[in-house]
Amino acid sequence: MDIISFINYKGGVGKTTLTANIAAELAFRGFRVLTVDLDPQANLTFSFINVDEWRELDVSGRTIKHWYDEFLNDNRDVSLSGLIVTPEKVNEHLRAMRSEGRLDLISSHLELINLDLELATQYGGNSQRTIRSSFLRLFTRLKRGLQAIENEYDIVLIDCPPNFNIVTQNAIIASDLFIVPAKADFLSTLGIDQLVRHIENLKTRYNNYVNDGPGDWVEINPRLSGVIFTMINIYGGDPIQTQSVYISQVNRAGYPVFNNYIRNNNTLFAESPEDGVPVVLDTEVSGVYLDIRGEVEKLVDEFISLTGVTL
Ligand SMILES: Nc1ncnc2c1ncn2[C@@H]1O[C@H](COP(=O)(O)OP(=O)(O)OP(=O)(O)O)[C@@H](O)[C@H]1O
Ligand SMILES: [Mg+2]
Repeated sequence: MDIISFINYKGGVGKTTLTANIAAELAFRGFRVLTVDLDPQANLTFSFINVDEWRELDVSGRTIKHWYDEFLNDNRDVSLSGLIVTPEKVNEHLRAMRSEGRLDLISSHLELINLDLELATQYGGNSQRTIRSSFLRLFTRLKRGLQAIENEYDIVLIDCPPNFNIVTQNAIIASDLFIVPAKADFLSTLGIDQLVRHIENLKTRYNNYVNDGPGDWVEINPRLSGVIFTMINIYGGDPIQTQSVYISQVNRAGYPVFNNYIRNNNTLFAESPEDGVPVVLDTEVSGVYLDIRGEVEKLVDEFISLTGVTL
């Protein structure tokens, strides 16, 4: 089971849209996909389920926030299985398309935003030894939770919030790879350096703790799979000049960049979250739609080859 996080500090760059579409296309190709929404804005969650369905999960304590609450309040390690839902619409759609794959979801919660401070107090302690063990336990929490269900899925895609709080760090520690979705503009590309540095620092800190004492902790090595550009405007078959400049800049900085990208289309990409089925699985067969579908398919071919994920 491969675990891949989608992350960029910049908000609104298309992280969630990209996660949802890649997840849907992989499920269409037969993968058992688990999507995890770690963003308190819960956009990925509401791409797949409606508000009534989410309320039921909230009432029955089946969101990622409740899972962290259990840990904070009672120091309990509960299985992630209880949180997982199989969103009806997208999975019905997959069955109608004769896919044998599945797309599942762990939902987020608006109150996840308050959790970070509470979590931070968890790894305070008097001695270096106490700090080490509570740090490792807290920061490895999601990794362990996902490892416990690793036989159920081929791939886990995590939609991260645009920050580097403890929950996001949990995602990075759990991940084999991370993908940076970015718009081809100044602000969206500016943060890539910083993000990569922060992830490198987290890795060093975590691995130092791992090697600093006993226990069955394992070193981590989350790697950047690549930057995927989103909301690209095409002219004459290529990204427009102003965007090409930023794409080249990221390339020159030495970061791997996907050859394929997601083009800008307000109509198609804005509509899909509400009907529970990402645009790549739409059954419309005309015009721009077909172009976009073809592009997302090519992007997913590249994603499979660069990440090495297998059924
Ligand atoms: N390729 C695209 N073309 C046009 N609009 C898009 C495209 N991708 C996403 N959008 C729209 O842009 C907005 C932001 O997209 P999205 O929510 O995926 O970004 P995000 O990076 O996850 O944002 P946040 O940081 O808030 O989580 C949404 O309204 C979405 O519908
Ligand atoms: Mg988002």
